Amino acid sequence: MQASQPIGVFDSGVGGLSILRALRAELPQEHFVYFADSGHAPYGERDTAQVLARARAITTELLERHDIKALVIACNTATAVAIHLIRAEHPGLPIIGVEPALKPAAALTRTRRVGVMATRGTLESAKFAALLDSLCGLAIFILQPCDGLADAIERQETNKIIALCDHYTMGMGQFGSKEGQVDTLVLGCTHYPFAADLLQARVGPSVRLVDTGEPVARHTRQLLLTRQVPLRGAAAPPGTEGGATGHLTLVSSGPPEALREAVRRWLDLDLPVRQSD
Ligand code: DGL
Repeated sequence: MQASQPIGVFDSGVGGLSILRALRAELPQEHFVYFADSGHAPYGERDTAQVLARARAITTELLERHDIKALVIACNTATAVAIHLIRAEHPGLPIIGVEPALKPAAALTRTRRVGVMATRGTLESAKFAALLDSLCGLAIFILQPCDGLADAIERQETNKIIALCDHYTMGMGQFGSKEGQVDTLVLGCTHYPFAADLLQARVGPSVRLVDTGEPVARHTRQLLLTRQVPLRGAAAPPGTEGGATGHLTLVSSGPPEALREAVRRWLDLDLPVRQSD
């Protein structure tokens, strides 16, 4: 394995850019390949066999065409249904997933009422049930499946995003810092941080929004070190190419312009997008 090999990151679409942003901040010298499966989004309302088939196909493409040295599944839904199988099929590949930040939220809440926004696929998975079970008694989690929200964010349909944020926040009851109110809101889908300002305006300034970008990025660095994966900055002598910011390669199974525009808006980068077949 070489330090110059990229780290693969994928999501059903543009949502995983919220994780990629944190990964590039944590590991600035690494090369990344980001795969947006926009041609098959959204995952959240698909059956598990379809999501698993896509996770398998993308992992194979990232390995065979891009020679990745590690994989970050930047999608809660794909992590919930596929990570254990993808890990079993690729035992030599370090694989990091994401899950809704229930544990950090349980530590933060004072009212012991936590709202959880996620896709139906994530909330109905066995992995999520096990996570919820492990936190039993620490807080009351109000689970809100958010059908259509990731898709509306994917397509940048502003009016629909606003209507769905209104609808789903109202569905979780009263927000605030008083007893009986929800004081912590988990953004359990990687698309939702891109609606964070809208959500914060609806739930009020005292409510904490919790997402997983930074903890996942820190965990990725830690896992790469533990698995002794060579890293660019660490491998290169000072003053050589190793100090430079890593490259980012963008691939999409949907319209390339949509990913290009999202990367411009959210990562402030203007890069070409390759079309995956
Ligand atoms: N961004 C993804 C997640 O974290 C998937 C959203 C979707 O495609 O439904 O679950």
